[in-house]
Amino acid sequence: MSSEMFDVIVIGAGPGGYHAAIRAAQYDAKVALIEKSKVGGTCLNWGCIPTKALYSTAKLIEDLAEKAKDFGVKITGAPQIDFAQAVERKNKVVTELVKGIDELLKTAKVTVFNGVGSFVGGNKDTGFEIKIEGKNPANIKGKRVIIATGSEPALIPAFNIDHKRILTSDDILSPNFKTVPKRLLVIGGGVIGCEFANIFTRMGSQVIILEYLDTILATEEPIVVRELKKKFQEMKFEIYESQNVLKVENTGNGVKATTCSAKIPKEQVATAEKSYHEADLCLVSIGRNKVSNNLNLGCLKIQNTRGQINTNPKTLETDELGVYAIGDVAAGAMLAHKASHEADVAVFNALASLGFKDVKPMEPNLTVLPATIFTSPEIGSVGLREKAVKDKGIKAVVGRFAYASLGKAKCTGEDQGFMMVISDPDTDKILGASCIGAEAPELIAEISLAMRNDLTCHDIAQTIHSHPTISEMVLETVEDCHGTAIHKAGRRRRPSAAGKAH
Ligand code: NAI
Repeated sequence: MSSEMFDVIVIGAGPGGYHAAIRAAQYDAKVALIEKSKVGGTCLNWGCIPTKALYSTAKLIEDLAEKAKDFGVKITGAPQIDFAQAVERKNKVVTELVKGIDELLKTAKVTVFNGVGSFVGGNKDTGFEIKIEGKNPANIKGKRVIIATGSEPALIPAFNIDHKRILTSDDILSPNFKTVPKRLLVIGGGVIGCEFANIFTRMGSQVIILEYLDTILATEEPIVVRELKKKFQEMKFEIYESQNVLKVENTGNGVKATTCSAKIPKEQVATAEKSYHEADLCLVSIGRNKVSNNLNLGCLKIQNTRGQINTNPKTLETDELGVYAIGDVAAGAMLAHKASHEADVAVFNALASLGFKDVKPMEPNLTVLPATIFTSPEIGSVGLREKAVKDKGIKAVVGRFAYASLGKAKCTGEDQGFMMVISDPDTDKILGASCIGAEAPELIAEISLAMRNDLTCHDIAQTIHSHPTISEMVLETVEDCHGTAIHKAGRRRRPSAAGKAH
């Protein structure tokens, strides 16, 4: 058994963990990375990347089905879907990217241990001892430790997830899942539910979504969700909101969910009127649980709340000084890019505490955290929502611009949807933005850059945007905050635009 001493040990190799390991190595730290499965974590193996590969197939089908004829491309009959091939392509994309991360780690001289890592003991002065269980067991020591063990699909006993007909997103994204169900029941109309609903509808499934809250995608702008629902309805999705799913069963040749209204008080549920929804397969996508129960946290001072590791929000250090937690296993949004940002914070704080040259401590800055949803149309958002602005009584103006008025969107036939930007009329700074339509997640990146750097609507409006591009959506929308969007009829400059518009 070796007991090698590393400067930094990272546990978990998702977009938080592998980012942290590479970043620390860039600053000449001696780094170990422990991963029980494959590098890339959920995002690369069972999340963001495989879904986007399948989404790309779904989008191609949509374009061929909806656009080809109008665009002058003749296809005899409807496009034939070869789902097994789409899955093969998805698997190849994942394999290549995993290999890429393996190479990056090798080049960075990060030592990767395959196995489950857990704490044995120690402290920030003597170093922490970590036990690795797996094919090649080892004990290693680290002066600092970063926990990045992520999350896994939430399981509810009443939903009887059997991984055969009642599935999690991990099951659907497994390399061997090659079935397109005739009817797919999706429990939970959040990000995962809506993304899979969109993919499988395009693959030919009849999709039924059951959502507990009053609306699917409750955290997005209501007006954006309404636009998405319009498209979902065209695609003949069945969406049932305010549904309390009481039970899901595998009936042998299908699945059956029993629901009642979510408005019915708990004590009246037994006698309430029930509804039944049947399908071939069921996807349960009701959120994710934090993974920290296999770390033996009890041997140190690390505290957790239902698996979520408590951290100091300014340093991301746990209650055990010298140990940090980042990404899904810590507080906040479960997003890959949030985990990567926190990786930098933990690494710089860890290395600064060890006296590494040219390294300064860093605080997280999550005020500008973009979110994206890959449905069709796509959705992107950042900052405050209109309702939050109203509820908080914040003085604001809202600029809006429709894709239908944009030349490039007309050319590509993606002229549905809109962008909205909420700005402060006094400072002209952006408070938030939402977009539904072509390249929405990419457009939100420009807004995020502006918000993070305190740029104003005027600054964006004064930046020449290449024509014809979809990025002109941003230009027109911020101009609309001033009432000066050129391609919007009947607008007049807003006197409240702080003299910023010309
Ligand atoms: P989520 O929190 O986004 O959505 C779960 C949905 O299930 C919610 O609408 C919730 O009200 C509903 N729900 C909860 N319990 C229910 C029940 N018993 N019956 C019916 N509905 C119920 O979680 P989701 O979709 O599982 O995603 C997990 C995480 O992964 C999220 O934090 C999400 O942001 C992230 N993610 C991000 C993606 C992206 O950035 N494009 C893609 C996919 C996931």
